[in-house]
Amino acid sequence: MSNIEEQKKQLEYIAMAADIVAKKNEELGRKLKCSVVTFGCQMNARDSEKLAGILRQVGYDLIDEETEADFVIYNTCTVRDNANQKVYGHLGLLKSRVKKNPELKIGLCGCMMQEPSVIETIRTKYKFVSLVFGTHNIYKFAELLYRMLSSDSQIIDIWEDTDQIVEDLPVERKYKFKSGINIMFGCNNFCSYCIVPYVRGRERSREPKEIVREIENLVADGVVEVMLLGQNVNSYGKNLDNPISFSELLKEVEKIDGLERIRFMTSHPKDLSDDLIEVMAKSKKICKHIHLPLQSGSNRVLQEMNRRYTKESYLELVDKIRKAIPDCAITTDIIVGFPGETAKDVDDTIDVINKAQYDNAFTFIYSKRTGTPAAAREDQLDEDFVKEQFDRVLSRVQEVAKERNGYLVGTRQTALVEEINAHDDSMVTGRLSNNSMVHFPGDSSMIGSLVDVDIKEAKGFYYIGESVK
Ligand code: SAH
Ligand code: SF4
Ligand code: F3S
Repeated sequence: MSNIEEQKKQLEYIAMAADIVAKKNEELGRKLKCSVVTFGCQMNARDSEKLAGILRQVGYDLIDEETEADFVIYNTCTVRDNANQKVYGHLGLLKSRVKKNPELKIGLCGCMMQEPSVIETIRTKYKFVSLVFGTHNIYKFAELLYRMLSSDSQIIDIWEDTDQIVEDLPVERKYKFKSGINIMFGCNNFCSYCIVPYVRGRERSREPKEIVREIENLVADGVVEVMLLGQNVNSYGKNLDNPISFSELLKEVEKIDGLERIRFMTSHPKDLSDDLIEVMAKSKKICKHIHLPLQSGSNRVLQEMNRRYTKESYLELVDKIRKAIPDCAITTDIIVGFPGETAKDVDDTIDVINKAQYDNAFTFIYSKRTGTPAAAREDQLDEDFVKEQFDRVLSRVQEVAKERNGYLVGTRQTALVEEINAHDDSMVTGRLSNNSMVHFPGDSSMIGSLVDVDIKEAKGFYYIGESVK
């Protein structure tokens, strides 16, 4: 079936599901409520917006409190084991609620559902879950929802892969003024610790004209900032029938009238081109922030991780970015405790932290993911040793970020106002181009607009400023 036919079919299912929900709403004398809970990354969050868009169209009221909902759907993540444990925790709590209210429906989707062992557990231990699907057939959510609403048995539908990209189904955005956009799906890199390529499938890029069209529609609907999403945006477009590079895509997106800011995530260091740096340096819209996951600073560990760059080439890249775009923030991800990692390897990681001067770094303890090459290794490390090394890395990362924060004090910057400050309602909170937060006096009328701010003071990881009158 072509993508357009598939899209039409799903719209028909939305209408059919809407009929059922309308009847139930009438019987109950109120609207059915549903809650979508996101466990994963930005791509997972974007998928949740797609689920929510369909649920709204079908006639559900969307609410945040999952305990009040008639239908709860968990969009799961499995990148580290603690993400899985959280989902089982929620399911455990739901068990007694389902006993009291057999009408309560529960759905599970996302990356964790692509693991056969998880499906086995749900089949045997969590029979009260109504609907289970994975990452490859999420575009069939309307159809699956319809099946769930017209049946009492557990529906499990998991696919191994897909080559379909279905466009133009309803989406419910969390923010009016900013949005994530998938530019590609899946990953081909197979870093040896990582489960993402197994649960998200092979890399597929969307056509540039579809991406531009989606952004134009978003802009017409009030969006001023977009975040282009992919596991490795730097390899965008290579496998399209008419190949195009990521930097060429950025140039196209830059041309969109009314769009003010462009962000992207994530950049794999092995594919970050000089072209991209040049396009960023010249651009008026691309934000000054690159998330550049390091994972490890040890060449031996990097090789065993299958990252395909070295400590030296990584630092050269950082240098190039700093020279071409001096005020660019660089952030990173680091894994501590990869099998066989020694304290000396961790010294190398700390050396890169010192030299790269990250604005921020997310540090993770290595989590063994079944099915990945690293999980099969015999030299898994002792937990206490890993914790010690982790603390060493974490404290260094925090010190460096603190030293680095402050370089904008005394400058004038533009902030996109996102919300009223949580602690003081005479202040608003905005995000700067480099992704730092700034708090300054303001009111709710500013939300969603770009405001010039004089940066007065740095406080830990955020700034205090004053809007320019
Ligand atoms: N595609 C992105 C990363 C996506 S996963 C990239 O390559 O940069 C986000 C982060 O989770 C990774 O950067 C890595 O630091 C971390 N991660 C992935 N697998 C992990 C594992 N098995 N244990 C601990 N952290 C992991
Ligand atoms: Fe995982 Fe590596 Fe792909 Fe990132 S690039 S998603 S870390 S396999
Ligand atoms: Fe994202 Fe987690 Fe899946 S990080 S791609 S939701 S495994």
